[in-house]
Amino acid sequence: MHFKELLKNTLPKKDFELIPRAFEVVGDIAIIEPDGAQKHAKDIADAILQAHKNVHIVLLKTGDVKGKYRVPKYKILAHEEREFSNVPKWASEVPQTQTETIYTESGCRLRLDLAKTYFSSKLSGERARIAGLARDHENILVMFAGAGPFPIVIAKKKDVKITAVEINPDAILMFRDSVKINHVEDKITILEGDVAESVPPLKEKFDRIVMPAPKDAPAFLGLALSKIKTGGMIHLYAFAGDEEIEDLKKSALEDCEAAGKKCKILLVRKCGNIGVRQYRIVIDLIALN
Ligand SMILES: C[S@@+](CC[C@H](N)C(=O)[O-])C[C@H]1O[C@@H](n2cnc3c(N)ncnc32)[C@H](O)[C@@H]1O
Repeated sequence: MHFKELLKNTLPKKDFELIPRAFEVVGDIAIIEPDGAQKHAKDIADAILQAHKNVHIVLLKTGDVKGKYRVPKYKILAHEEREFSNVPKWASEVPQTQTETIYTESGCRLRLDLAKTYFSSKLSGERARIAGLARDHENILVMFAGAGPFPIVIAKKKDVKITAVEINPDAILMFRDSVKINHVEDKITILEGDVAESVPPLKEKFDRIVMPAPKDAPAFLGLALSKIKTGGMIHLYAFAGDEEIEDLKKSALEDCEAAGKKCKILLVRKCGNIGVRQYRIVIDLIALN
């Protein structure tokens, strides 16, 4: 039975109609967003647990992603007994919490504590797209790697060498565990630190650079351009409304010119909604020199 059916007779009709039919599920954790039906959040969470046998924890998002680490705030609304049976026994460096789970995407298993790292399952299509574009033997840089979803999904699919940079120490612990879980130790090198400090000393150049931090990435495009090979591709993420997309493209090409790089934009695409007519945008740029 759909979880909304379980609430039909208990909630006032006007509130019932405000409950969305769908919610995000990450591993065995369901996440509900604050909305018009929030005062019934506990009833909604209980109904979700009852209707979805694969869900053991229900979180309410109480604060949007914030701060340098881009971590959201959650309140635990409902939980069932669980023994973290989906977390490997050896993965004990991070204290096990109710907000932790193992999430599966593109054949990869990721260890995630949703209250300690940024993560969005809505970017799974984008990760699969980049993994599809990557070619065997590429040297790839992933800036702002978080708990590692982009590097792990790419490394699982292709025979590549990846350097991944992330500043949040909790995200790094989860990332290291997920690298082991997915047996990609020989493909991924994790650098813990600030992109601004960790990337400039790198001697090598890259065939592909992924910049999945929409709020900050455009400011780091110059740095990425200094590390891209001729013919290499940069995937730049940003936030924009419809009327800002042209400006975003223009400013990216100006950054290329300032860096002495001739670049061509191969694709601009909306890859998620972040508010009313506000989108997550990806720009694929190829360096021609
Ligand atoms: C929007 S999240 C994306 C995380 C991950 N790529 C993903 O898709 O799940 C941005 C990440 O960049 C990290 N970050 C922010 N500023 C950074 C910096 N200057 N150097 C390295 N990492 C940074 C944050 O800790 C966060 O994990």
